[in-house]
Amino acid sequence: MQPKTVLITGSSSGIGHATATAFLDEGWEVYATARNPADVETLGEQGCSIATLDVTEDDDVERVVDRVMDEQGRIDCLVNNAGYAQFGPTEDIPVDAVQQQFDVNVYGPHRLTRAVLPHMRRRRDGTIVNVSSVAGRVSFPGGGTYCGSKFALEAMTDALRAEVDEYGIDAVLIEPGPVETGFSERAERELEGIERSGAYDAFYDVFEDTQAIGGGGLGAVSPERVADDILNAASATKPASRVPVGPVARAAVLGRFVPDALRDRAFSLLERLR
Ligand SMILES: NC(=O)c1ccc[n+]([C@@H]2O[C@H](COP(=O)([O-])OP(=O)(O)OC[C@H]3O[C@@H](n4cnc5c(N)ncnc54)[C@H](OP(=O)(O)O)[C@@H]3O)[C@@H](O)[C@H]2O)c1
Repeated sequence: MQPKTVLITGSSSGIGHATATAFLDEGWEVYATARNPADVETLGEQGCSIATLDVTEDDDVERVVDRVMDEQGRIDCLVNNAGYAQFGPTEDIPVDAVQQQFDVNVYGPHRLTRAVLPHMRRRRDGTIVNVSSVAGRVSFPGGGTYCGSKFALEAMTDALRAEVDEYGIDAVLIEPGPVETGFSERAERELEGIERSGAYDAFYDVFEDTQAIGGGGLGAVSPERVADDILNAASATKPASRVPVGPVARAAVLGRFVPDALRDRAFSLLERLR
């Protein structure tokens, strides 16, 4: 029997890398993609097919999806994993940084989804797994741009799920809390690039240690744990629409149901306790 095929974005590190290994171990045909192919060379040595894919480049998306179809004739699962966090107070973040954040975290998955859907519809089968975050359920000060991108991804996935249900295609949101990856280091680099107005020093003090927001810290889970949930979603006949991963995610998503006034109060209390 022909093995199932998965296409994964952002496989150079963290969750994407662990996901490629998890699918490979289960006998899937894995297309592990990255902006720089050197970063996925070891996955290639382990048995993955590797490809260069920047999710902001239409040509990359078309070329890679065409190649998978030529070589395998099917894409059973797309894992939209590539992403990063642009933290910072709303006033300080330039518009082009917001555009760049949405280009990777929102338009990237949209590009990939549009490219694979005709093939999935033809076979009346497939799963699209979008790696969101607990930040796609609850927004917080200094997180407006990142949370905005993940909220958008969640809204688009909810719409998609209903649209493609009649074609036997599933759309799943994976919502991790903190995961031990290079996520925080990249977020720190993005934060350093911001020109500060001087009006939000309190936020920067908190965000200076972005470990508090993502990456390591209390309640953090391993990327392998997230990869297992992604693999389970791809393998299930009727996957859950949302999968919060880890204790922080399971607790924090409840914050969505807290009245706005109470949530605002909690944020200002935290600010004063700082
Ligand atoms: N770590 C956490 O605490 C956490 C929590 C919740 C959700 N998430 C989400 O999990 C996903 C994976 O993050 P991670 O934790 O595994 O962090 P990571 O180790 O920094 O991995 C992020 C991946 O995204 C890739 N990427 C960034 N921009 C890209 C682009 N334009 N095109 C293609 N790939 C691009 C990176 O590739 P390069 O190496 O080329 O930059 C890297 O492979 C992200 O969507 C993130 O928002 C993470």
